Amino acid sequence: MKTNLKIAIQKSGRLQEDSLRLLDECGIAIDNGRDQLKAKAINFPAEILFLRNSDIPQYLEDGVVDCAIIGENTLIEENSTASLVEKLGFSKCRLSIAVPKTSKVSSLADLDGMRIATSYSNTLSKFMVAAHIEAKTHHISGSVEIAPNIGLADAICDLVSSGSTLFKNNLKEVEVLLKSEAVLAKSPVITKEAQEILDKIQFRIQSVLKARNSRYVLMNVPNDKIDNIVKILPGMRSPTVLPLAQKGWSSIHTVINKGSFWEVIDALKAQGAEGILVVPIEKMVI
Ligand code: PRP
Repeated sequence: MKTNLKIAIQKSGRLQEDSLRLLDECGIAIDNGRDQLKAKAINFPAEILFLRNSDIPQYLEDGVVDCAIIGENTLIEENSTASLVEKLGFSKCRLSIAVPKTSKVSSLADLDGMRIATSYSNTLSKFMVAAHIEAKTHHISGSVEIAPNIGLADAICDLVSSGSTLFKNNLKEVEVLLKSEAVLAKSPVITKEAQEILDKIQFRIQSVLKARNSRYVLMNVPNDKIDNIVKILPGMRSPTVLPLAQKGWSSIHTVINKGSFWEVIDALKAQGAEGILVVPIEKMVI
């Protein structure tokens, strides 16, 4: 029977939309909606399983799914044996300890003897043991941020992304335990056939992520400034230089990291570059 790669993604939660978008950009389209537990890819040997986030590490461990798009924080909390295949660059967050703004606690050491509410008991306990701080962990599975307000705990340990949950609940961050983002992780018991399909997806993901982080740049430059401008451009390789119909001018094309463009724009203009275009790239296969 033909192997299908079983990919787990969140049934609900903040990773789901970006996970589906990434698969779509990798050319893996699914034919039914998110209300289903399982959906088959139309044009790729894969099945998408929509699972509860906290169940995904166990499914990976047992080989019920071959791989998953999941928060690295969840794998760490569950002490997962799944291995990280690729960091995906979205759903970036941190696991932090926070206290009420009115609290006298201002550092990790001040938490000695305090009660901390969290859904990340394992990660918190390990962190506290390593820091030689004795705090009492209260495990709760949701709405951790209200724990200090209702007198359940003196502090919380929870995920922080934009910081708006902390802000709305009058909490201040005192310590970052770890930084996390969405990752592609694979089962420790993945079969050879499934691994071959996973390799194909990983290659596609890398092409999509490289493209997301890059921009195609075109500009017109006077011929006597080509050498100077090429030195300024932080390109992948040597840029393409094409003659323009107008004598004495050329067009330079290159690919640069999207973050570095603004750093060099003034220098390019000072060298006489004109008509500068910065264009998004759909896929980048290197
Ligand atoms: C997480 C976390 C906080 C919130 C922080 O919950 O538990 O409540 O995100 O994000 P912010 O800094 O952008 O406000 P999430 O919405 O992922 O769902 P959960 O409560 O099920 O964990």
